[in-house]
Amino acid sequence: MALEIPAGAVEALRQSRHVLVLTGSGASAESGVPTFRDAQSGLWAQYDPLELATPDAFVKDPALVWRWYRWRRELVSGVEPNAGHFALAELEGLVNRLTLVTQNVDGLHQKAGSSDVVEFHGSLFATRCFVEGTASDDDDGSATPRCGICGGHLRPGVVWFGESIPETELQTAATAAIDCDVFLSIGTSSLVWPAAGLAEAAARSGATVIEINTDPTPLSAESHFVIQGKSGEVLPELVNCLAVQ
Ligand code: OAD
Repeated sequence: MALEIPAGAVEALRQSRHVLVLTGSGASAESGVPTFRDAQSGLWAQYDPLELATPDAFVKDPALVWRWYRWRRELVSGVEPNAGHFALAELEGLVNRLTLVTQNVDGLHQKAGSSDVVEFHGSLFATRCFVEGTASDDDDGSATPRCGICGGHLRPGVVWFGESIPETELQTAATAAIDCDVFLSIGTSSLVWPAAGLAEAAARSGATVIEINTDPTPLSAESHFVIQGKSGEVLPELVNCLAVQ
């Protein structure tokens, strides 16, 4: 069944000066990466996030946290970008300017060819010193790797609950939210701030908000266009409409 792509959404993209795309774990779901909150397959179905994705959890049991992240690194290293990731990489060449902000830490946008991806929640494959916060490549694969400079614990380079977004990424995304004239929200439950606030900032600045998601979210009611479906199916269709006319 051909997907219904609203002509108005295509037109908004065609006329756009600056598109801001925000992706969430739904954009990687068709690659086989579990989302956070989908009960049946959610990453957290087996784990309690507060046991794993917080600084306190890390201090309490760094080996457990490292086991979880090494498992996620393993999982993600074995998957490929899906048609939605590739369509976003293609979209870059079809609009005047595109800023891609992702909440995902799986690196799949980069693998699909998107350029300068803003990793709002860090990267699964980055490692930092827990004490100094500096990037480190001292991860020797051991149960609790140590920083070669200060001897403190190393940690995965992702943003945990209760931690702030890295300054550069926050600024880039916030500036793009105000400047963009189209905001494309893809595969996110729009529940986690400040990422969820970007759409509001964009709408307040007059941007056209388009949501692509399999389920309704708090953003749906605020969106000018809601395309309910899988990003791996909707995005190629959307890009197709843009490319042909
Ligand atoms: P969620 O699991 O909260 O939301 C994923 C959304 O994608 C849901 O609304 C699903 O309905 C939708 N979805 C699932 N499969 C899809 C598909 N194939 N195509 C389109 N949509 C699909 O994940 P996020 O919104 O990314 O933060 O969660 C945001 C943040 O919460 C994560 O970055 C993480 C977590 O706390 C940190 O770890 C800091």
